[in-house]
Amino acid sequence: MNTPSPARDLPFLSNPDKDNFIDGRWRAPESGKRIDTFNPSNGQLLATLARGDKADVEAAVAAARRAFTGPWSRFSPAQRQQLIIRFADLFAQHFDELTLLESLDMGAPLHTRLRPSKNGAIQTILYFAGQARNIQGDTIPNSLPGDVTTMTFKAPVGVVGGIIPWNGPLLGQMHILGPVLATGCTAVLKPAEDASLSVLRTAELLMEAGLPPGVVNVVTGLGAEAGAALAAHPDVNRIAFTGSTATGREIIKASAGNMKRLQLELGGKSPDIVFADADLDQAVPGVAMGVYSNSGQICFAGTRVFVQRSIQDEFVERFAAYGKTLKVGDPLAQDTRLGPLISSRQLDRVLSFVEVAEKEGARLASGGARLGGDLSCGFYIEPTVFSGVTNSMTIAQEEIFGPVASIIAFDTLDEALTLANATPYGLASGVWTSNVNTALKMVHGIQAGTVWVNCYGLVDPSVGFGGYKESGYGWKGGQTQIDGYLYQKAAYLNVS
Ligand code: NAI
Ligand code: MG
Repeated sequence: MNTPSPARDLPFLSNPDKDNFIDGRWRAPESGKRIDTFNPSNGQLLATLARGDKADVEAAVAAARRAFTGPWSRFSPAQRQQLIIRFADLFAQHFDELTLLESLDMGAPLHTRLRPSKNGAIQTILYFAGQARNIQGDTIPNSLPGDVTTMTFKAPVGVVGGIIPWNGPLLGQMHILGPVLATGCTAVLKPAEDASLSVLRTAELLMEAGLPPGVVNVVTGLGAEAGAALAAHPDVNRIAFTGSTATGREIIKASAGNMKRLQLELGGKSPDIVFADADLDQAVPGVAMGVYSNSGQICFAGTRVFVQRSIQDEFVERFAAYGKTLKVGDPLAQDTRLGPLISSRQLDRVLSFVEVAEKEGARLASGGARLGGDLSCGFYIEPTVFSGVTNSMTIAQEEIFGPVASIIAFDTLDEALTLANATPYGLASGVWTSNVNTALKMVHGIQAGTVWVNCYGLVDPSVGFGGYKESGYGWKGGQTQIDGYLYQKAAYLNVS
């Protein structure tokens, strides 16, 4: 395979100054202001983005509303489905280009993205192509006096604001584009200031697939400006947000004005629980990659690793040794397993958690340092594991969003359950055991939106994903997600 070359393989970056994408064309920000965005593997400027604000959001929402009531409303379910399939084909054709762009922008290792046929982004959008023709109301027998026929209808909610984080926008956007296009809604996307490029390029592909102008718009910029304006806009009907719990709270407040529907996928501090009867050949790499994938920048990272006391020493040793085998480095290199963190801000944040952990008495079993040498210009940190952690320590309670695992010992199943649930979050969890009774007790007992047994991080769009407690609400994937993009209407027809 040729080594990817940004200059050769990314014509999209031949002009590195990117505008907003509104009503089917590039539009400079009304204010004329721009923000820089960086390549986290070397700290260099990659592109500049429009610093969109209220005025740009206004224009984008107006375009989305016109498209919603205009040409897009005349697309039949079959036409919407065909369009999504054309888009998925184009996305697959441009797969290498898109994943390269995203790796440059946010640092995910290129060679962990698999083939297009196995890629989560493509599988997700294709799932929603199927859903486009699966939207239906009911005819419901009633017990009313007289002769009344009753039925329900579904209708798209309207304009959706999609606020996307930086940790995987190529996939993240599909969980908004999919239900939007399947149901006949329209969208204004606000990708994160640190990683907007793959979302902007995808907007071009949507146009190439034949989407009418205005159905999908992209406004880039800062969360407090473009993001907040979108979250508060009175003509936006629904917000789909993935990001921190703190920002999720702001979105809830901003939604109150016009009672926006919300889908919030927020932070996590997910438990991954290893029983003494687990197959450690499977559990050690499984738990490690549950924390270290995407350098720990995953909402469902299994960062609280509960290990049954009798195998604790062996587990810590093997876990630390496994971490040392993971090559950290240039995201474009073939053998890289962990890329850089997204920004110097995120690197500082993760390093400060390492410092606090040591102060609070956790034992550093491996890692913990920023990487120097050739990597010193990028935002790299070693895969890190602390042992001797207690559930009350800061590193066991707060979302770190970096490759930092905390190993916490437990004795009994009941204790593991109590500790696992002692967090305000409830996004995901993992259990490693060869005993099916143990597995089932944990599946029922853990308060989290997903329980993975002898695996971690699998997500299928037909099954879906969502949170308990402060990890948010609304389900991503499945019929449940589609329902969130639809109003339901009842009709009572008196024919007596
Ligand atoms: P964030 O939640 O502030 O950012 C996510 C998105 O929300 C970005 O597009 C941002 O521009 C936008 N945003 C920010 N403030 C907004 C506001 N007031 N109104 C509307 N939109 C707004 O997260 P940030 O600052 O990038 O990262 C901070 C921490 O959040 C991370 O260290 C991590 O712990 C957590 N996080 C969790 C994610 C997850 O998938 N659960 C994703 C990203 C961050
Ligand atoms: Mg970037």
